[in-house]
Amino acid sequence: MSNQNRRIAFLQEMGLGPVWSQRAAMLQTLEPEVASLSEVVEPVAVSATATAPLRVAEPSASAWGDDDLVSTPAAVPVAPTALVQPATNIGSMNWDQLKAVVSNCTECGLCKGRTQTVFGVGDQKARWLFVGEGPGRNEDFQGEPFVGPAGKLLDNMFVAMGLKRGENTYIANTVKCRPTDENKRDRAPVAAESDACMPYLQRQIELINPSVIVALGKTAALSLLKLDPATPVARLRGTVHRYTDIPVVVTYHPAYLLRAPKEKSKAWADLCLAMQTYADKANG
Ligand code: URA
Ligand code: SF4
Repeated sequence: MSNQNRRIAFLQEMGLGPVWSQRAAMLQTLEPEVASLSEVVEPVAVSATATAPLRVAEPSASAWGDDDLVSTPAAVPVAPTALVQPATNIGSMNWDQLKAVVSNCTECGLCKGRTQTVFGVGDQKARWLFVGEGPGRNEDFQGEPFVGPAGKLLDNMFVAMGLKRGENTYIANTVKCRPTDENKRDRAPVAAESDACMPYLQRQIELINPSVIVALGKTAALSLLKLDPATPVARLRGTVHRYTDIPVVVTYHPAYLLRAPKEKSKAWADLCLAMQTYADKANG
């Protein structure tokens, strides 16, 4: 399939045709590759969503409460403190050292349930960093982030943005080991697990030094932005945040979008904001 046809297929899947054409003006400021997106859709009437693509969703418990979690976070106790001394020099490690430390890490209880750690994948010099929640069953099995159904949607989102897994993109997770509940189902990590794993993500970000970070869902957004878990995360959409000095755009987790396809237009608005942020940074 040609790139254009893949984009059209993605538009159809996302149900975004009408929205896309209305964003031509904005997209023209982006790279030619991205700008060409606007040419592949027929102009049609503008919907309410399309005219206000970057408007923040109404904060409500249900708007995000169930938004991005692979399963309901269980009150899973975090394992007793690690038996191994924490690596104190993470901040000066190179990629190989960091990978080695992560693959042997026992800093939180998630180490017990993993088949393997899922470090991250992509271009170590990527300008785009996407941060998810944590490995699920497929990822734990394959050792790569976002290889299940949510990953397929993420790959399609990349195509829509003129991006590709492994080229100028890096995909990481908040936690590197798969969180499961007592029934061995995927769950979101609890705060203590995210906190324990954060130094690794922090070092990955330092080594990559991306232009833009896209936080995929609540877990990533809360960890990166160091927010109180009570923060209504729906409010975080539509605004460019900062992780140190790197812009962070928050959007829905692809797993949530699979369950709530109507939200895909909002996710597209978020990605447009991310692309605009990227272009602004490149231009000046
Ligand atoms: N969901 C995530 O947040 N990360 C993955 O790697 C896969 C699914
Ligand atoms: Fe270590 Fe992170 Fe795995 Fe916890 S989730 S054991 S901190 S690598």
